[in-house]
Amino acid sequence: MCKKKVTFIMISLMLCGLLGNASAETYILPESNEACKLLVHVNQGKERISPEIYGHFAEHLGRCIYEGFWVGEDSYIPNVRGIRTDVVETLKKVHIPVLRWPGGCFADEYHWKEGIGPRNKRPEMVNTHWGMVTENNHFGTHEFLDLCEMLGCEAYIAGNVGSGTVEEMQDWVEYMTFAGDSEMANLRRTNGREKPWRVRYFGVGNENWGCGGNMTPEYYADLYLRFQTYVRNYSGNRILKVACGPGSLNLHWIEVIMQKAARQMDAISLHHYVRGSGNWTDKGSATQFDEKEWFVLMRNSLGVKELIAQNIEVMDKYDRRKRVDLYVDEWGTWWDAEPGTNPGFLYQQNTLRDAVSAGIFLNVFNTYCERVKMANIAQTNNVLQAMILTKGKQMIVTPTYHVFEMFKVHQGATLLPSDIYCHGYRLEGQELPSLVTSASKDASGNTHISICNLNPNQDVKLTCLLDGLNPTEVTGRVLTAEKITSHNTFENPDVVKPTTMTELSIENNLIIAKIPSKSVVVLAVK
Ligand code: AHR
Repeated sequence: MCKKKVTFIMISLMLCGLLGNASAETYILPESNEACKLLVHVNQGKERISPEIYGHFAEHLGRCIYEGFWVGEDSYIPNVRGIRTDVVETLKKVHIPVLRWPGGCFADEYHWKEGIGPRNKRPEMVNTHWGMVTENNHFGTHEFLDLCEMLGCEAYIAGNVGSGTVEEMQDWVEYMTFAGDSEMANLRRTNGREKPWRVRYFGVGNENWGCGGNMTPEYYADLYLRFQTYVRNYSGNRILKVACGPGSLNLHWIEVIMQKAARQMDAISLHHYVRGSGNWTDKGSATQFDEKEWFVLMRNSLGVKELIAQNIEVMDKYDRRKRVDLYVDEWGTWWDAEPGTNPGFLYQQNTLRDAVSAGIFLNVFNTYCERVKMANIAQTNNVLQAMILTKGKQMIVTPTYHVFEMFKVHQGATLLPSDIYCHGYRLEGQELPSLVTSASKDASGNTHISICNLNPNQDVKLTCLLDGLNPTEVTGRVLTAEKITSHNTFENPDVVKPTTMTELSIENNLIIAKIPSKSVVVLAVK
């Protein structure tokens, strides 16, 4: 996070256009009653925000696939070909652009041929990573690709390097995408699908430094080179190949993979999970926490900025033309499992704290859209920082879902450079910027500004200057709640939901807004 102390004289110069700085910077103001300021350069946008930054991830883990997506054709829960209708309709509202599947750690022990053909004949397996439960393989390739077609999103398949074979991976791609006459394509036809599917993204392994085989980077890089050779483009389907990158900070891993294999990949992944305290055995409660834990989560969420910058720096050493993209294909908060639930199922509640954290991540991804072309929050239903929670036929959306719904205006829009001048949010001698923002211009010329107020105690008066636009109309939506721990439940599903902003106006070409404490705001400007 770039933080600079600045004086009001500098800000006035900036707002008068005398310094003309078009970069995205955060400046922390000295303490005063002065309003925070946002300067947006409306005519200086260059980079497109890839819609896939707003992507999702669904693993065979706990109740994400089974119950979350798949209920079976005979279920009393309304479904189309076994896939629950309410969940599909709800995800369509956020314009879900891409879905990653089948894992996660599960991907490196998944053998796809066990998940095709008549369901009652599919073999069972043990899901060793997630609760040692029996997996009946009822949700397999056909069901997943059917789901993607229902959602209208791209498919991102994670292949098995850890315990699979090259032949198995090659067969899978041929099975899904070959239009001609071959053993795999004909097997697909026997199983009811004549036409090949479109498969845009293929991950060659997952976390192969850990659950995906405990490999060294040198060993994985060699395996990557071999496996990816056989991930072919069939029948006009162009697959983008994704190499396994690091989990949080492991620059040695990305350095070795880029050095050995940059030319054979389209993208490399990065995983980043955040907590508010504790360690991996005591991650903290999702719903019971104090301001200290809130602050630490905000700090850790902002940390993704530095993490991305460091990884890009290494990538650039081996890819000077910046051809290889960075996919943050797992990210989000990770808390102790909800009391009374199977700890191996990673079911957690989701509060306003998760929503503000998601807003920070998405704003950072937007600002790095030149290189970050995809991100997939973990995970879609009932697992980790979920969009959707289900209980039998009941379904609720989480505060994080609302952030995705509010931010969907950025999908495919042009990032606008912007500079924010805000006060610090301080706790116990540490300081964070109170506001984290990004801005974009969509195809119709409308400007959208998304703002997170990290401070749970203070509303912020914000003045926005749109350099290159005299605004005629502004509207805003805000997501906040009474407490930092507020969340939606099956009994009270609308405790945290967006409302229309009222304290918002245009005065002398400036937009004046009150950004409530602990909130996520999206402004639409014409
Ligand atoms: O999302 C849960 C797990 O987190 C995934 O299976 C794995 O890739 C990561 O460690």
